[in-house]
Amino acid sequence: MADSAGHAVVTGGSSGIGLAVVGRLLGRGLGVTVVDTQPMRARPGSAREAVLQEFLVDVTDEKAMREALDEAAARAGTAPNLLVTSHGIRGGFVPALDLDLAVCRRVLDVHATGTLVAARSLVRCMERAPGGPPPGGSIVTVSSTTAYGGWANQADYGVAKAAVRQLTQNLAVEWAPRGIRVNSVAPGHTLTPMVQEMIDQGYDVSPTEARTPLGRLCTPDEMAAAIEFLLMDASFSTGVCMPVDGGWTAVGK
Ligand SMILES: NC(=O)c1ccc[n+]([C@@H]2O[C@H](COP(=O)([O-])OP(=O)(O)OC[C@H]3O[C@@H](n4cnc5c(N)ncnc54)[C@H](O)[C@@H]3O)[C@@H](O)[C@H]2O)c1
Repeated sequence: MADSAGHAVVTGGSSGIGLAVVGRLLGRGLGVTVVDTQPMRARPGSAREAVLQEFLVDVTDEKAMREALDEAAARAGTAPNLLVTSHGIRGGFVPALDLDLAVCRRVLDVHATGTLVAARSLVRCMERAPGGPPPGGSIVTVSSTTAYGGWANQADYGVAKAAVRQLTQNLAVEWAPRGIRVNSVAPGHTLTPMVQEMIDQGYDVSPTEARTPLGRLCTPDEMAAAIEFLLMDASFSTGVCMPVDGGWTAVGK
């Protein structure tokens, strides 16, 4: 990885949006470290072992996260300075009165605490780099359109995603003096394995498509393009949560 243009960590990089991000970042010549609880669903064919590392780690396990990033930095010969937190699980999608608190706590933990753990694991790993922290630190978190306004059946997931959005702003302010930008995307429905599973279980996406001004779902690569922009190119943006939703949040009624 010493010959690559940088080193990025992607949590949830084994599937869906995260996997599409991995493909784009490899395409920009970055080394990429994937952290996920499951193996990669697909591996970009041309990626050499040295530029694509994979760690099976639960992002809420801070000790394991820190060890994984330290090992990734050592193997790559360069500490990561970029992070995309695209890990995530579905909520219970039931009324608040019926929500199992064990499910609720896990959803909050994975999305909110897991994003914090990943972000500060990156910063600590950068700080321990032998030559000092690599410059140009940048983090993109993944919130959701459910973080905007009130939604039924979202007392777990929607609250967790609002927490991710708020955390992004807080970290942006706290870490700007370190030269680290922290931004977020708020995806609308994106056709990933997570959403495909919901469709397979009978979830009807046609009302969503009808309410979306652009009239369709997002593709994982379209979402990854927005994430890549915030991560790599939006050099004067920090603390932003950018809806990538075909106009969903722009609709006034
Ligand atoms: N697909 C959508 O419509 C949509 C909309 C809004 C927000 N999001 C968010 O986008 C992100 C990516 O979702 P996706 O649609 O690509 O789903 P996905 O299920 O395809 O990918 C999520 C990945 O996260 C991993 N993961 C789950 N829990 C983890 C943990 N504790 N530690 C490490 N990895 C873990 C999974 O193994 C999986 O590989 C999630 O945060 C999701 O909530 C998705």
